[in-house]
Amino acid sequence: MRSWLQKTKRFREEQRKREIEERRRFPLEQRLREHIIGQESAIATVGAAIRRKENGWYDEEHPLVFLFLGSSGIGGPCGEGTGGLHFVTVQVSQEPTEEPEGKQKPCPGRGARWPPILLLVGFVPLDPYWLTHMGTKGKTELAKQTAKYLHKDVKKGFIRLDMSEFQERHEVAKFIGSPPGYVGHEEGGQLTKKLKQCPNAVVLFDEVDKAHPDVLTIMLQLFDEGRLTDGKGKTIDCKDAIFIMTSNVASDEIAQHALQLRQEAMEMSRKRIAEKLDDVQMTDKITISKQFKEKVIRPILKAHFRRDEFLGRINEIVYFLPFCHSELIQLVNKELSFWAKKAKARHNITLVWDREVMDVLADGYNLHYGARSIKHEVERRVVNQLAAAYEQELLPRGCTLRITVDDSDKRLLKTKDSSTPLKEGQRKGPTLRLEIVEDSKSRKLDIQAPLAPEEMSFPL
Ligand SMILES: Nc1ncnc2c1ncn2[C@@H]1O[C@H](COP(=O)(O)OP(=O)(O)OP(=O)(O)O)[C@@H](O)[C@H]1O
Ligand SMILES: [Mg+2]
Repeated sequence: MRSWLQKTKRFREEQRKREIEERRRFPLEQRLREHIIGQESAIATVGAAIRRKENGWYDEEHPLVFLFLGSSGIGGPCGEGTGGLHFVTVQVSQEPTEEPEGKQKPCPGRGARWPPILLLVGFVPLDPYWLTHMGTKGKTELAKQTAKYLHKDVKKGFIRLDMSEFQERHEVAKFIGSPPGYVGHEEGGQLTKKLKQCPNAVVLFDEVDKAHPDVLTIMLQLFDEGRLTDGKGKTIDCKDAIFIMTSNVASDEIAQHALQLRQEAMEMSRKRIAEKLDDVQMTDKITISKQFKEKVIRPILKAHFRRDEFLGRINEIVYFLPFCHSELIQLVNKELSFWAKKAKARHNITLVWDREVMDVLADGYNLHYGARSIKHEVERRVVNQLAAAYEQELLPRGCTLRITVDDSDKRLLKTKDSSTPLKEGQRKGPTLRLEIVEDSKSRKLDIQAPLAPEEMSFPL
């Protein structure tokens, strides 16, 4: 028995050493950069904090707590058109689902990552709610990738709770479980049940600003003491857990500040170019100032959460900034590559695209809506055409398909200043076309109406 215990201990120790060595060779920042475009300072902050924890340079009495703050992009040079009624198409999707290896699907237009549930088409008011909720910048993705890195692919290692489900006082019971004699006592709490299974999980509290103050009180106890007592009176020790809260409370201010900083950086670069200085760096990198954090962000957080001790328990506040043009291009490229991989795997079709296509897709995207709208833009302007062409049997198996900007529209690209945002009514922009490449010549595809989706152009 004793030797068995010793063997197990030795095995665990060796495994731990192997993992440390693996992380040294492949740091978290590297993994995050593979999945997240831009957000350099967020990646650096999270990477450094996890490294401190992993190497024993942290306060082991308390769990690590992050607050991820998003930026909506309202206001600033691109802040027009936020009021009134707009015609929109909204595709409501659920969590990404993994597609089993090697499983073939019948239609190229069906995204495996985001199964569509509902398509709503209609008039909705474009109010700040929409803007803040569509300003996706990678907060959830960063939390997910951190969990994947720390727990490999163990599902239990990532706990995600939508805090908008805990807005009422009575919903505290859902969080930690009801006391004996109350409805749902047997079920246990959503958080406590999962934490019990994996006390060192990465726990994501999405939209924490929506939670009822009583829920925040429980969270404070959790952050402060590193343990939690559930409805059954059982205490769960979770000092080793990592808690990540996300919020969009100060998103307008962060976006405005970031846009201003970016403009200043651009002007500075231009000036230096004009003065022919040697050390000119056209940089998109900006840093949120300490003064802005203290004078603008902290008062907003304080007014919202009302408790200094709650804010005091946050180890790092992490800022997610609006994307700059070059990051948008990378997002478009990532999305097109995703579909190119699918086209190859499912139909042996090689998908290529011109550089101008990326500009068109990045420009057509409204800066305010975040990364998710790039996905929608690619689906609307490219994948719709692929599906229609496939349905009309225009795509021979094994062909090479090129996405290109319609010749007659190319001049639009040349005349357009890319720093000027498109106004409503101007949004259609250049048309994207599909061509088959044969013997180094290209043949345009004649996709029949009403399935030519380029014609169905409304602002997202
Ligand atoms: N910086 C980024 N780099 C690459 N992809 C991104 C980035 N931000 C978002 N995405 C893509 O958009 C999807 C949605 O992003 P995510 O859920 O992380 O956004 P979020 O910031 O949590 O937004 P929300 O405030 O709406 O919750 C991700 O699955 C990811 O594919
Ligand atoms: Mg999110």
